[in-house]
Formats: sequence, structure tokens, C-alpha cells
Amino acid sequence: MFKKEVYIDRRNRLKQELGSGVALFPGNVDAAFNYPANQYHFRQDSHFLYFFGLDHPGFAGVTDADTGEDYIFGNDFDLDDIIWMGEQPIVADMAAEVGITNTAPYAELVSFLKKATDEGRKIHFLPPYRGETVIELTRLLGIPNAEVKGAASVALIKAVVKLKEIKDEYEIAEIEKAIDIAYEMHTTSMRMAMPGVVEQEIAGTIEGISLALGGPVSFPIILSMDGQTLHNHYHGNVLEEGRMMVTDAGAETQLHYSSDITRTVPVGGKFNQRQAEIYQVVLDTNMAAIEAIRPGIKYRDIHFLAARTIVDGLKKAGLMKGDTEAAVAAGAHTLFMPHGLGHMMGMDVHDMEGLGEDFVGYDENTRRASEFGTAYLRLGKELKPGFVLTVEPGIYFIPALIDQFRKDGKYLDFINYDKVETYKDFGGIRIEDDILVTDTGYRVLGKPIPKTIEEVEAVMADPLR
Ligand code: GLY
Ligand code: MN
Repeated sequence: MFKKEVYIDRRNRLKQELGSGVALFPGNVDAAFNYPANQYHFRQDSHFLYFFGLDHPGFAGVTDADTGEDYIFGNDFDLDDIIWMGEQPIVADMAAEVGITNTAPYAELVSFLKKATDEGRKIHFLPPYRGETVIELTRLLGIPNAEVKGAASVALIKAVVKLKEIKDEYEIAEIEKAIDIAYEMHTTSMRMAMPGVVEQEIAGTIEGISLALGGPVSFPIILSMDGQTLHNHYHGNVLEEGRMMVTDAGAETQLHYSSDITRTVPVGGKFNQRQAEIYQVVLDTNMAAIEAIRPGIKYRDIHFLAARTIVDGLKKAGLMKGDTEAAVAAGAHTLFMPHGLGHMMGMDVHDMEGLGEDFVGYDENTRRASEFGTAYLRLGKELKPGFVLTVEPGIYFIPALIDQFRKDGKYLDFINYDKVETYKDFGGIRIEDDILVTDTGYRVLGKPIPKTIEEVEAVMADPLR
């Protein structure tokens, strides 16, 4: 946990932003895996963690903007719990660690909220993402299940985004710890990417590295020779010489800050000419986009800078043609990069995505586009110092998309389909880093993870078998 002043300050700033009413933060409960007593590892709600810090199931936090008071509702362990799970501090002692003196048994939460409602005060809560929380909010507030999400407080969402999107020095240090764990995961993945190895051997090994270094992975590992499938969780392929392998993986620290890094390597450790050519285009795009990061620029403009860099590179490779600006304006680059350049990152790997991507990545000055490809851009708005975001361009050869665009006669002025056909066995390449927006520009966070062709080949020259 951070020191208690951090949590007190966060709650005070939240009350100021909110102005009035009661903000209710239901923490998570244990979730069953395949029968009630066989449970997933507990993961606390990130918003609860941010304001109340306690990594413990079955609690709720309340911060009251009218009275200035903060509360933790939760039950002390009973003897049974102690027998199975060991001695635990009492709720009052845990709450004191985050600067809260008002505690009560969980059962008292419902009457506390009823009293506030009877006084005509608004109860603010965030949109829930777990069924158990929906049911609990129904029980606590009397809102029908189907209406709970819609009844979430836009004022609270906006206040939470405003606070959480700016990372402080302690949070940045945690994120860098998570990236340093990712360094170990990715360099191990590179060194294992040899012909004959099954993808799951690598995926399992690097998930183990994350666990061994203190936390779970920050999202299910994406690791595949079929990198053209963007979120590929199938790890059953036997690696073959001549293919490339994408690893998109990150870790969580003990305080649940995350990393999200992607590297792509040639199986066997040496890029062939075709691989090197496309890889260099993605690398140039990754670096051009990173170098453009500074406060005041819209991330959507950096997304389009990346798109132009991809088109320029693919023109040199003979896969695209025509005017670069016109190709991007028409959307021709989306055949190769049908996703957005990146997203906010923090405790959630897609930070605060559960609050609604448009509240996090867009604002009144930047609305989400509806066109194919650009619509998937999770972050479009103007950047501010303290944002942490990912830069993750990619080039993919997705046979079904190539066939569809060609059949529809799309972008005939910009795409050399005959040559693209010969890349249908290529797969995909993505290169992703985690970046802090500083007062004057950017900082690539964490220990640098090899990404130039020379750096990748040097790491892979020392294989792990
Ligand atoms: N790392 C997976 C994603 O950003 O969607
Ligand atoms: Mn990502």
C-alpha cells in the first residue's frame, strides 16, 4: 500500500470534484472458478484500490462529499476464517492504514445508504462489470438489475477519470516495476522462440515469471505464430522456422499496477529479408509515434502519423502505392493495421475501460470516429502530463480481410493486391511500449526491452532450450 496520505488526498480531491452526494465503491468479492470453494485468485476492484487501498474481499468504501466523512464497511474475520486463512488484522486497523476512522459491519451499509437516500442525497456509483456487483447494488439501492448500469453516475465517472488519468510519481514507479517484470518475460520469450517449441511452453514459462516476481499477468497472454489474429489466446502451435511470433504480455505488481508490452521475433532468431523489411516499418512507426508524444497533441493525430508511416513503409515494400495522405484519408492503411495505436494504462491494463472508453479516451473536443479501424482507437483526446499510454502499431496480413477488401474493390488505387496475396502466410507484427507524457514530451517507461533487429537477434543468439 502507499502511505495513508496518498489515499486521504485522493478521496479529498474526489469530494471536491463531485461537490455533493455520497460516492459508493463496492469492492470485489471472491469469485468461484468451477465450484464455490474453488476460487479465482482475488482481484480487488481498481477504483476501490485507488481510493481505499485495501486489497481484501467483501468491503465497501464510501466517501461523503456533503459531510467530508469516509467509511469502510466490512466484517472482521471469524474463527473459521482464521483456521483456513490465518490471522488477519481487524477492519478498524486496516482502515486506519488508509486514513479512515469510520468503520462498520458490512450489514450496516444498507441502512446507511437508505438514510442518505431518505435525506434526498444522491448516491453515486460507477458502472459495475461483475454480475455479483450488479446484484449487490440492486440489493443496496433497490434499482432493478437491468437498470443498474444505466443508473451509474456520470458525474462520478468524470471525476474518477479526471483524477486517475494523471499518474503521480508513486504510480509511475509501480508501473515501471511492472515493465521490469515484463522485461524478464519478453527476453525469456525471445530466447525460447526456437523451431519445435510449442507456443504454450513459452506462454506458461513467462506467466510463471510474472507470478514468481510477485503478481499475476495483467491480461491473458497473447502469444502466437498467427500474430495476424490480434488477440490470439491459442497457444498450441509448434514453432516453425520462417514464421514470426508475437508476444503481447504484461504483469501486475503487488499494488496492481500493470505493464503491457508487445514484441515480435523471427522463430529461430534471424530475420529473413521479407521479415526484416516489414519489421522495420513497424519499428519506424513505433518510434515516430513515441517521438511525437507531448502535452497538447491529440493522440488521434499521432494515430494518423503512425498510419502515414506505415503507408510510406509499405509503399517502399511494394505493397501499397499512391499518395500517402490520400491513402490514409481513405482508410487504406486499415487493411494492415485495423486497430488503434494505443490506450491509457494504469491499474487496469486498459485503464478505466469499464467506465466507458469514450469517457476515458475522448472528450467534448474529440469524439470517437465511426470508420472501420479508426473506430477501434481507444484513446483519441489531447494528451496531458502524467498520462501513461501504450504505443502499439502493427502490420498484419489477415487473409479474410484481404479477400473481403479485394472482393469489394476497396482501395484499388492504394493497394497492390497481387503482391499482398503473396504475404498471406506472413502473420503479423506488433511492437508495443508504455509511455509517460511528461511536461515537455515523453519518457519510455521501464528498462528498455530489446526491439531493434540487431537487439532482438543478439538476445536470441543465446537461446534457452
Ligand atoms: N495488450 C492487449 C491490448 O492492448 O489489447
Ligand atoms: Mn496494449
